[in-house]
Amino acid sequence: MVHDDPAMEAVVNMVERAVHLNAPILIRGETGTGKELLADYAHITSDRKGDFVAVNCASLQETLIESELFGYTDGAFTGATRGGSIGLVQQADEGTLFLDEIGVMPIQLQAKLLRFLDRCQIRPVGATADIQLDIQLISASNSDLSKAVQLGNFRADLLYRINSIEVVLPPLRERTDFHLIVNAILETFDNPPQIEPEAIKLLEDYHWPGNIRELKSFLIRLLVSVGKETVCAKDVQLLLRNLPSKKTEKRQRNNLADQEMGIVLAAYARHKGNISAVARELGISRNKVYKKLKEARS
Ligand SMILES: Nc1ncnc2c1ncn2[C@@H]1O[C@H](COP(=O)(O)OP(=O)(O)OP(=O)(O)O)[C@@H](O)[C@H]1O
Ligand SMILES: [Mg+2]
Repeated sequence: MVHDDPAMEAVVNMVERAVHLNAPILIRGETGTGKELLADYAHITSDRKGDFVAVNCASLQETLIESELFGYTDGAFTGATRGGSIGLVQQADEGTLFLDEIGVMPIQLQAKLLRFLDRCQIRPVGATADIQLDIQLISASNSDLSKAVQLGNFRADLLYRINSIEVVLPPLRERTDFHLIVNAILETFDNPPQIEPEAIKLLEDYHWPGNIRELKSFLIRLLVSVGKETVCAKDVQLLLRNLPSKKTEKRQRNNLADQEMGIVLAAYARHKGNISAVARELGISRNKVYKKLKEARS
């Protein structure tokens, strides 16, 4: 996990300490910020001898969810595989169970998950006894689960069980190690081209709503479309044109608003607070002057 960013540093330190205490970790962060990569890193750093088992709660089939997670015994239900099946949770025994997109887990199943987490025991469908497991739990969500609790879509007691250690991955636009991430992605390609500093600057200015995943696919598109040894600012500009540059637009808008405010304040001072005189001089309505002054005071 390449990083050279204070927020990332804090997240990684927390996760390293948490896995050594076997504390449940909840990873939050916008889409594409690297939640699964961090979970994988946590497993590797934990030195647990079992497997890393990732379960996407959004793609589990609702009717089969319980047997998929907890397994089932021979003949537990019609259509069950002979000899039964080990569930995903048990596959993670002595390893790490990664529950991705936990926020969308059906509410009835949340109760069953809670029961498992309380004692770390499962009972496969059709079984008569519990099985004790040893698991490092890591959950991930790109939404704020406390809001889901307020809306009644997520159990509060489950949230307290999974979020002993909660870390939030910073969005790419807030990271101070952008160039490092670009290089890490480029290194995964054969014969990566050089990217000129000006071109990197342009990339850094974009707001990347899809975060590192979006950056990765953009770089692939860039390399394919440019097809030369050095990528310059113009190459990036051409491709970025298709993406809305919110960050730059917002900055330009703010600059313009600041300039306008400066002009109004200067005129206000010259006319010793006479709003009508300011409006006359600047050729704008009194109301507009009034609004600008209010903005300046807020
Ligand atoms: N620090 C990094 N350096 C290089 N690549 C990274 C880094 N962090 C994440 N990636 C890459 O970005 C992509 C998205 O990462 P990942 O799947 O872990 O994000 P996520 O937060 O789980 O996304 P989602 O919320 O959409 O599931 C992956 O291809 C991953 O390899
Ligand atoms: Mg993910």
